[in-house]
Amino acid sequence: GIDVSALLKETGFVTLDQGFVNTASTTSSITYIDGDAGILRYRGFPIEQLAEKSTFLEVSYLLMHDALPTPAQLKDFADKIRVHTLLQEEMRSFFSGFPRDAHPMAVLSSAVTALSTFYQDTLDPLDPEQVEISGIRLMAKLPTIAAYAYKKSIGHPLPYPDNSLDYVENFLRMTFGLPTVQYDVDPKIAKILDMLFILHADHEQNCSTSTVRLVGSAQANLFASVSAGINALSGPLHGGANAAVLEMLEQIRKDGGDVNAFVTRVKNKEKGVKLMGFGHRVYKNYDPRAAIVKKAAQEVLRSLEKPDPLLEIAFQLEEIALSDDYFVSRKLYPNVDFYTGLIYKALGFPTKMFTVLFALGRLPGWIAQWSEMMTDPATKIGRPRQLYTGFPERDFVAIDKR
Ligand code: ACO
Repeated sequence: GIDVSALLKETGFVTLDQGFVNTASTTSSITYIDGDAGILRYRGFPIEQLAEKSTFLEVSYLLMHDALPTPAQLKDFADKIRVHTLLQEEMRSFFSGFPRDAHPMAVLSSAVTALSTFYQDTLDPLDPEQVEISGIRLMAKLPTIAAYAYKKSIGHPLPYPDNSLDYVENFLRMTFGLPTVQYDVDPKIAKILDMLFILHADHEQNCSTSTVRLVGSAQANLFASVSAGINALSGPLHGGANAAVLEMLEQIRKDGGDVNAFVTRVKNKEKGVKLMGFGHRVYKNYDPRAAIVKKAAQEVLRSLEKPDPLLEIAFQLEEIALSDDYFVSRKLYPNVDFYTGLIYKALGFPTKMFTVLFALGRLPGWIAQWSEMMTDPATKIGRPRQLYTGFPERDFVAIDKR
């Protein structure tokens, strides 16, 4: 019932763009997306080439430094990260304070905020050297925090990092290793997880990255900004979708596996029923990351002794949706989250950890975007306007007269 055009006329100069569907908040030279053509590039390099030929640390360097590293630069970057993987002992004790059933995303964001209490001398967002060391610390410590969030949830002791291992291997060992049992990381699993991290590493001004930038635009420190981004990512319409997809597939299986019946409920817009892992604000075509993940899911899941029946349900869902007018007319295609959960499950991660894995992958993008903003002379504090729809001026009424 609100006359928006009258309000706009009244304010004269304000644009109303709810959800920022068509408003650029910044210029950026990091990531390029063409949503209609299904193209994604980091610093100009196609995501398909990076996923096939690069590594997560190399891509992280690329995002944070604007160029692919030389062998010496990559070694230096990896070495710097390696020496910062430990958490302060006091940090370790935080984990015992959380309830065992705490959501690991909440543990992750709390622990990242807590990091700022240990490194108070290097928090200045305007000092490039302090920003660099904060970025390295975050890259090094987030896998340790993520593994601890998981260990805590299953009541296992918290291990120390093993810096003889590479980035992803170290994370896998901290997550799945036990002090009493020899645990050798399967290089195939490490490679797949590394590739999934690459696919998640940046996606320009998505909800969590915009959050990181908005918080940082007030010159809050990197830990505070990234922690806010983790909280944004936890929502089911954003990073939480990978867990929601798996819950949806499991529900369909429990209900007898009738994929058509589920699609009908989606099309009837039953309250709370969406085809999770479908649709994207920017991609109006197949999400290029989803194409890569689908192929990986086929390879991983079909190689298992007992293939996951949820994969067949996912394939059927996709096939039906892609030939149904409801989805076709709205340009709803699978996004990156549609198949990732199935792979994470096959690798042994519980559903609650899926969005944490997304956060580990997205971290270099958040750092790169935040740093780009901090060094851009055009940066201003983020402060959107509004159209006021409340009461006009009225007089206060004493409490005994109400
Ligand atoms: N299932 C069913 N219908 C959908 C879906 C879906 N997954 N996504 C969009 N629609 C419908 C909407 O109901 C709407 O229909 P209408 O025109 O009849 O009202 C139309 O498609 C347009 O949808 P919007 O919600 O306006 O699109 P928006 O760009 O705002 O939302 C979003 C994008 C949030 C990703 C949405 O598609 C969605 O909720 N998808 C499911 C959650 C998901 O997978 N999120 C992960 C996103 S990718 C990522 O974060 C990595």
